[in-house]
Amino acid sequence: MRTQVCIIGAGPSGLLLSQLLHRKGIESVVLERKTKEYVLGRIRAGVLEHGFAELMREAGVGERMDREGFLHDGTVIAYDNHQFRVDFAARANASVLVYGQTELTRDLYEAREAADGKIVYNVEDVRIQDADGDAPYVEYNVGGQGQRIDCDYVVGCDGFHGVSRKTIPETVRKEYEKIYPFGWLGILSETPPVHEELIYANSERGFALCSMRNENLSRYYLQCPLDHNPEDWSDDAFWEELKRRIPEQAAEKLITGPSIEKSIAPLRSFVTEPMRWGKLFLCGDAAHIVPPTGAKGLNTAASDIYYLYHAMVQFYVDGEEEGLDRYSEKALARIWKAERFSWWMSNLLHLYPEQGEFDRKMQRAELEFLESNESAQRVMAENYVGLPF
Ligand code: FAD
Ligand code: DHB
Repeated sequence: MRTQVCIIGAGPSGLLLSQLLHRKGIESVVLERKTKEYVLGRIRAGVLEHGFAELMREAGVGERMDREGFLHDGTVIAYDNHQFRVDFAARANASVLVYGQTELTRDLYEAREAADGKIVYNVEDVRIQDADGDAPYVEYNVGGQGQRIDCDYVVGCDGFHGVSRKTIPETVRKEYEKIYPFGWLGILSETPPVHEELIYANSERGFALCSMRNENLSRYYLQCPLDHNPEDWSDDAFWEELKRRIPEQAAEKLITGPSIEKSIAPLRSFVTEPMRWGKLFLCGDAAHIVPPTGAKGLNTAASDIYYLYHAMVQFYVDGEEEGLDRYSEKALARIWKAERFSWWMSNLLHLYPEQGEFDRKMQRAELEFLESNESAQRVMAENYVGLPF
């Protein structure tokens, strides 16, 4: 088989890129290790930067997102029993959209299917060959049969554990990593959100986040030790702990119910450089990970897709390679800023096992400064709603 662009991974990055390219008449094939149902079963991100929402519209998949998503003009930050609001509209003249990764991925699958887009599921043993030459190809097995796709470019959208990043030789690739000494225990429950905006809480017992998907679907997170198991947390224990970590006025209003999903995610900062090797480009989690504080994971994936999509259009439509040549540099410049913001927000809000009294006072001073200083709020708001592409 031959195509112009072979995309590895049918998560949000791979699907969005194939859909955007299709709208410009550029052909792609997407290879996915799992089934569509499996991909749609993963409960992950929920907050979209306004630039990402715009890219979804450009891909022709913004209709349900605009109808069912919720615009948020601000967020609440709590510490001890006290809370304040950062107003995104006033400080950054923009807002974010609450719309689940599952929904967005479903919209992308529907659009790809309606356009007869080629997605191959259940692929095994994907191998990217000759990415540093003029004629790259991808080999894989499906249903026990070996297959091969010849293409102009390969795009690795296969997440943190995929094969694409590892295809770049170690002599070329440099990785930067920070592992945080805690995880996030998250639950999804069919209950109304405790507040109309998100609440990020720094408490003496550790971080908590109150988020949501819609009027009757709430997403809550608790900082927890890395050796905890979700099964060891009963729903009651989760709700009790959450109430202890958020301000009393929110705890009193919290409506609890059975969890419909419960999982623990470790926190990691990770960047690989460069994001291009010959004819191979990396996008999204395949190239970088942020700790979830600040909701940048999916949004950074979208920013890579923005740069690569425009570079590919420039190449296929205008015959100009400048965008492709500068992809890694441009994508990384924005990624490192999102890494900084996620790292800063994680440091601001979590309880660190090794934290001394001085460090705790520094955190407290930073929270008080953010509460009282408009410039500090502007910096936070501009980063939260998304820096310009
Ligand atoms: P992925 O969504 O990981 O998609 C990669 C795809 O490639 C998958 O479908 C995978 O099956 C496929 N694949 C992997 N290897 C191969 C292979 N060898 N061959 C073929 N296909 C392959 N971000 C937030 O902003 N907020 C959150 O609350 C949040 N929670 C998260 C919770 C968890 C547990 C995780 C892991 C991530 C979370 N993220 C969150 C991050 C966010 O979900 C990711 O940044 C986003 O999914 C990245 O999209 P992607 O398409 O680049 O990668
Ligand atoms: C969600 C996750 C985040 O990491 C975040 O900062 C905000 C919201 C969420 O899953 O809803």
